[in-house]
Amino acid sequence: MRAVILASVAAGAILMAAAPGSARAQERRHEVAAPQAWSFAGPLGRFDMAAVQRGYAVYAQVCSACHSLNGMTYGDLTSIGLTDEQVRQIAAGQSVPGGVDAQGAAVMRPATAADHFRQPFASVEAAAAANNGAPPPDQSRLALVYPGGPDRIYALLTGYRPAPPGFVPTNAGAFYNPYAANFEIGMPPPLRDGQVEYADGTTATTAQEARDVTTFLAWAAQPHLAERHRLGVQVTLYLLFLAILAFILKRKVWSDVH
Ligand code: HEC
Repeated sequence: MRAVILASVAAGAILMAAAPGSARAQERRHEVAAPQAWSFAGPLGRFDMAAVQRGYAVYAQVCSACHSLNGMTYGDLTSIGLTDEQVRQIAAGQSVPGGVDAQGAAVMRPATAADHFRQPFASVEAAAAANNGAPPPDQSRLALVYPGGPDRIYALLTGYRPAPPGFVPTNAGAFYNPYAANFEIGMPPPLRDGQVEYADGTTATTAQEARDVTTFLAWAAQPHLAERHRLGVQVTLYLLFLAILAFILKRKVWSDVH
């Protein structure tokens, strides 16, 4: 009797494993973002500023159409190596709210280096309405707070692919992406080969653009990372020096005692 029950349980398990439902679950397994070799990773990491500058170009030419970057002013771009004149020109090309005119109507004015990056939408509601109900998140801290961090941002940006047969997104109009929570994302694939023009002549492949913009977002999230790393090394060396001094002193003070 026991053998019969065992055999039927085993047969049931085999049948279930072969059922189409579980085959679909297999197809739709979440993919783990492959770790990338980032210049800023590790305790001694510092930003590859050429990549950060290219990444800013990707943000400015692509992502800024939908994503705000509220934490940054145009003047902050001098920290990635742009000159004051370049920053002035970039800012002057953007318009930001400039208060009201004599009749009380809202007016726009060209931005200055002191202004925060311009908002792509007037409000969260407007952002949601323009994006199928899913407002694009602000990118100021995204590289720090996004689960999976820069590796997953890169994977997500390069991970769009045709949906497996039978995949129906929960939100109509969402795109299949095995790195997105729930396999779907409201953001249309933002990058393709040749999408941006790089000032330094680098070939703009999708992977290059994704890598650069991720580096830029990591910089925007923690612009002082390299300074902190440098200070950490200096403090460690200083403490080591103090420890050696203390050791020599101890030897000297106790040299008479045998
Ligand atoms: C056409 C508008 C649009 C553009 C352009 C765009 N995004 Fe998005 N993005 C969205 C929307 C909408 C969401 C929210 C999607 C959701 O919640 O399903 C989003 C979400 C994201 C997320 C979070 C994904 C998640 O799993 O929650 C990341 C990361 C992101 N975008 C990065 C970028 C980068 C980097 C660029 C520039 C290369 C970019 N986006 C360009 C509309 C856009």
